[in-house]
Amino acid sequence: MKAILLAGGKGSRLFPITFGVSKQLLPIYDKPMIYYPLSVLILAGIKDILLICTSEDIDSYKSLLENGSKWGINIQYKIQKSPRGIADAFILGEKFIGGDSVCLILGDNIFYGLDFSHQLNNVVERTTYGSEATIFGYTVKDPHRYGVIEFDEKGNPISIVEKPKNPKSKHAVVGLYFYPNSVVQVAKSISPSERGELEISDINKFFLKKKKLIVETLGRGFAWLDTGTPESLLKAGQFIETIEKRQGVKVACLEEIAFKKGFITKKQLIKQAEALEGTSYGNYLLNDYR
Ligand code: DAU
Repeated sequence: MKAILLAGGKGSRLFPITFGVSKQLLPIYDKPMIYYPLSVLILAGIKDILLICTSEDIDSYKSLLENGSKWGINIQYKIQKSPRGIADAFILGEKFIGGDSVCLILGDNIFYGLDFSHQLNNVVERTTYGSEATIFGYTVKDPHRYGVIEFDEKGNPISIVEKPKNPKSKHAVVGLYFYPNSVVQVAKSISPSERGELEISDINKFFLKKKKLIVETLGRGFAWLDTGTPESLLKAGQFIETIEKRQGVKVACLEEIAFKKGFITKKQLIKQAEALEGTSYGNYLLNDYR
């Protein structure tokens, strides 16, 4: 399975913060936002990743993430010239995806919860060998801001609507999606919405209509954090700070996750941590692993 990490867009809801810097490079407590979705991909065991961003930001992403080898992964880059929509990722990534299944994660989504890694591994396996797509639903109090899924009384998904004025449920679709290879053709077949974007919800509706859409739930104890407004950005940072300080663990520490996954050796972890010695991130790794 391949993965696309989508980090384009203008970040207009955060202006003027994002006039000079990509939204997904903003700090969430002690590390850049992009580390969090990237950690999900490493947890899922995916090694081949395409990062899509704007032409203005590509050099910043390259200096931060390089080719990914420091975490035992391969990162390639592609420019999205204008924000044509989330589903554009599959058209831009067609060559990269080749004949594989693909995971898409939005660069501004933060996930944190028990047993997530296990859940991800199951979805990766099912998508790699099957023909079904998987998306995740999460209960929110303001569903109108998201893609919204409606279920029947048996719990089967029956409709998906992007940012509905009158949401039929409180189940938002989170920014993490798993698709079989056919998603590339589906993306090519859809038309831009009224707001001029190729909508990810239209892709999901296609799989739903074909009865090939599985919706998994991220339950009550799970945190799916929003970073779309100055307030939610601050709150996300405070949430990570609280967890890290209370438990003495780091969330989305890429070297640690890559090491636990067997993507890098302890020697590599220590070498990278030494370059960060004196920072809370570097010291955390050195205290635990040196
Ligand atoms: O966060 C989950 C939600 O993400 C879903 O519930 C919605 O169904 C989905 O449409 C999306 O809604 P947003 O309004 O949050 O999408 P936004 O336009 O903010 O873009 C999400 C991320 O994708 C953000 O990091 C920017 C990036 N992006 C977006 C577009 C439209 C791109 O890189 N290129 C694009 O063309």
